[in-house]
Amino acid sequence: MKSLVFCGCFCVFVLGAAQLFAEQEPKQVTRCNVTGQWRSEQGSMLQLTSTGPEVRGIYHTAVETALGASGHNRESKVVGVVGHGLQPAVAFSVLWAKGSCSSWVGQCFLLPGGGQVLKTLWMLRSVVESSLDNWESTRLGEDQFIFVGHMEGRDGH
Ligand SMILES: *[C@@H]1O[C@H](CO)[C@@H](O)[C@H](O)[C@H]1NC(C)=O
Repeated sequence: MKSLVFCGCFCVFVLGAAQLFAEQEPKQVTRCNVTGQWRSEQGSMLQLTSTGPEVRGIYHTAVETALGASGHNRESKVVGVVGHGLQPAVAFSVLWAKGSCSSWVGQCFLLPGGGQVLKTLWMLRSVVESSLDNWESTRLGEDQFIFVGHMEGRDGH
């Protein structure tokens, strides 16, 4: 009888503990955090810092439409916005040295293995001579950025 009572108490204790852990779990779910270093499939490096809904950073491009179009070190400032939630939407833009500009819009996703990825579509506007050349002014594509780390330093060079 004693052991039955003990077992009953023990089981209630175990169930109680399990319940406690189950309730704490939601707090440990990580949010897709855009702050840090990202690398595109082409090897471009994106460094972002988010402050509330604002995003700032540096884009170091691995590709350019013409030699020098993105400046002597192929780097430019990033300004953008990021949404709420576990996997927020994000949009950011870059103005290049020779006057062209790019915008990306996408979403930050948590990967099953623990990493995170930014899946985006982009448009690049090149400055053309006149409205007659407007038809050839814009490129569009897809970029996927893999999260490299939360380090502050730049390693895109
Ligand atoms: C995102 O990560 C940065 C750098 O590790 C950290 O300082 C910041 O608090 C994180 N933001 C959120 C919303 O978790």
